[in-house]
Formats: sequence, C-alpha cells, structure tokens
Amino acid sequence: MDSQALPTTFEVIGPDTFQRDGYPHDAWKCLRERAPVHWFDLPGGVGFWAITKREDILTLSKQPQRFLNAPRLAIFEEGGPVENRTEVRQLLNMDPPEHAAYRGAASSWFTPRAIRRRAPEIERITRDLLAEMAGDGGERAGDFVADLAAPLTLHVLADMLGVPREDWRLMFQWTNQIAGASDNEYGDSETPGGGVMDARNGLFAYFTELAAERRKTPRDDMVSVLANATVGGEPIAPLELLSFYLLLVVAGNETTRNAASGGLLALIENPPEMAKLRRDPSGVDLAVEEIVRWTSPVIQFCRTPVEDFELRGQSIRAKDSMCLLYPSANRDADAFEAPDAFRVDRRPNPHLGFGVGEHFCLGASLARLELRIIFRELAQRLEAIELDGPVERMRSSFLGGVKRMPIRYRLSVR
Ligand code: HEM
Repeated sequence: MDSQALPTTFEVIGPDTFQRDGYPHDAWKCLRERAPVHWFDLPGGVGFWAITKREDILTLSKQPQRFLNAPRLAIFEEGGPVENRTEVRQLLNMDPPEHAAYRGAASSWFTPRAIRRRAPEIERITRDLLAEMAGDGGERAGDFVADLAAPLTLHVLADMLGVPREDWRLMFQWTNQIAGASDNEYGDSETPGGGVMDARNGLFAYFTELAAERRKTPRDDMVSVLANATVGGEPIAPLELLSFYLLLVVAGNETTRNAASGGLLALIENPPEMAKLRRDPSGVDLAVEEIVRWTSPVIQFCRTPVEDFELRGQSIRAKDSMCLLYPSANRDADAFEAPDAFRVDRRPNPHLGFGVGEHFCLGASLARLELRIIFRELAQRLEAIELDGPVERMRSSFLGGVKRMPIRYRLSVR
C-alpha cells in the first residue's frame, strides 16, 4: 500500500483480500492512525463510514436508541442498501424496545450459570473427538477444522437446540451456505444469494416441524423454550421464531469454530506462547480472551444514526451506514499494549470480539466455555504440532472463516 494513500474500499472490507491474506491489519491500522472515521464508496452500492477505533465502537454500540441495527446489518460487496430483508427478523436487526423483549425469551438459557451446566457434556464431546485425533499417540496428520473445530461446535449447538443426531449434517450444510454465501464452495454461484435462500427455506421448513413437535411435548432444549415462549403476552410469531433458530444456528457455529481454528493457528505461529500455556494450562481463561481478541471472528456489523451527528470532526448524516470493524478495535494501540503481539496472559484485555452494549453476544458464555475446554485439553495433551499445508480461508467480508487447516501432530492418549 502506498504510504501516502488511504486504503481502498476492498482493502478494508474486501472478501477476496480476506480470503487470500487474512485480515488487512495494515489497512485498518492506517485508518485508525490517519482517518478513524472515514467514508468509503461502495462500487455498485451505497457507501459507508468505516469506524476503526475501539472507543468509537463503544460509543456507538452503547446508544441503541440513537444508532440502530435494523436498516443495514453489515456491508456486503454486492452493494445495494441491503435493507433489512423481510425474509428474516432476528435480534441482530431489531432495535429497542422490541429487541429486549425478544432477547428476554432466550436470555435465561445463556447466563454463565445456566451455561456451566453444559460443561460435562462439552468435555465429553471434546475428549471423544481428541481421542479419535490422537489414535495410538503416534504422529498423525489431519485437518483441525474437520476433525475438531467444526464437529465440536456443531454438536454443542445441536445438543442445546435439541436437534436429533441424524439431522446434524443438515445444520452444518445450512450454516455453511449462509455464512459462506460469498464463497463459491458453499454459496450458489449461479444465482447470487440463491444458496442463502435455499438454506433459509430448508432451515425454516425443518424448524417449523420441530417447533410444532416441541409445543406438544416440550423438552429441556432451546427449540422448546422458544416455541413455548411469549413476547408481549403472545406466542412468538412464525417469522420471528424461525429467524431466532436461524440466528442461533449460524451465530453459534461459525464464530466459535473459527475462534478455535484461528486460536490454534496463533499458538502454532507463536511457540513461546504455546509453551507458556502448556506449562500452565490453568491460564486458559486469559488465553481464551486473547484468542477471541486476536481472531475476532466477527468482522463487522453496521449501525445507522437516527439524526445527523458529528464523530471525530466528521459530519455523519441520519441514515448513513457506519461499519463497526471489531478486529480493528481489537488492535487499537490506545486500548492495548503491544496490540500486534499475541500474548496468552494478556491482562487487562478489554477486547470487543463479542461486541458491546445492547447486542452484546448472547452466546458469549457458551463460546468461552467451549474454547476453554478445547484449549485446556490441547494444552495438556499436545506433545507436538505444526502446520502441514496452507490454511484455507473463507471468502467473506463478514466472518473470518478458516475452511481447512492441515496439521501434523502428536496428542497424548488418555
Ligand atoms: C467466539 C465466538 C463468538 C463470537 C466472536 C461472537 C461475536 C458476536 C458479535 C460481535 C455479536 C454482535 C454484537 C453487536 O452487534 O454489538 C454477536 C451477537 C450475537 N451472538 Fe455471538 N459470537 C460468538 C459465539 C456465539 C454463540 C456460541 C452463540 C449462540 C449459541 C452466539 C449468539 C449470538 C446472538 C444470538 C447474537 C445477537 C445478540 C443480539 O443482537 O442481542 N454467538 N456475537
């Protein structure tokens, strides 16, 4: 990048750039230092303000009445205003007071205390998968995404929702199609958006039946909780109910999967940090916060102001889109000492990987628990590990996805 020029639109939110090189941290750093609130045109679509500093994301996220989620979820390269498509109505495109009413229908299931009850099951699943990976304890090769990160997060989520085992493959397919809409491997290259609509329709049909079943015979699972919940004294209407399931399936799968793969990659690339964690696996809680900061699996969400206002001297108009770039905030030198260093014992670590404010990640406790269990087990059992080929990333400007991560390793047998 020319040291004088500011980055271009697709250097900042370009799915091709992300797929080829990973996150464009140099471009984001340049913006933080020289143009932290900066307007970008979007070829073929409506432009946006890139918000790259942690403090600004905090300010905007903490005023949900002034800065709305509803009109535009995120910036996608296809452009267009990407107004809220009526096909989906879920928490991430709702605003106060409606948002809190719907969130309340699920929130008691996601408290840290409620989530702790799931630890034994998550430990069991993790150990089963690691036992497969370990074999007889000799040197093995595999793909960490396919062997652990993807099946673990899928299993935990399916279990929480109450989806029977024979249908997990469907969930996996839908989540890939939705999150990987811009990636030809998952999306439908012939019809733009076709893969997403197919997945959305398949998922809606499936959960319509499952919810009906759980209304008749409720069980201890999330499908039952939402199918029998009321908002404003009424049962949740079909579109909102099915969208809630869709949100949980996608938000719960892709993000944690990518934090797990990206976290292991960071440990492989930083051997002294790996050694530190192996010496003291009890430091895993701090390590997980650093992994979420470092990987920041959610790249961006938008906020839209209801009235004109000023931020860092820039005049922002009502209805402009502001793109909150979480991975950039998480490398902000005003908030983090040596932000470009991966340190498993970083403290304090005020990262925004899970967002902040009204829309703070509902699944943060679950994600943290899964990641703590994975990295504690790995710290205790990994005897050797190295990359065994190039890491393949998903083509997306919304989620930082790792599709394949070939590794060669030795894991102790338990
Ligand atoms: C490392 C893993 C995860 C990361 C990095 C992550 C990140 C995020 C972020 C950045 C937001 C938006 C915050 C905002 O707009 O202010 C969010 C919202 C959300 N996340 Fe997560 N998430 C993760 C795991 C999960 C899991 C496991 C679940 C569910 C099982 C989940 C469910 C949700 C839901 C439902 C919302 C919408 C909340 C709302 O709008 O009120 N997430 N997440």
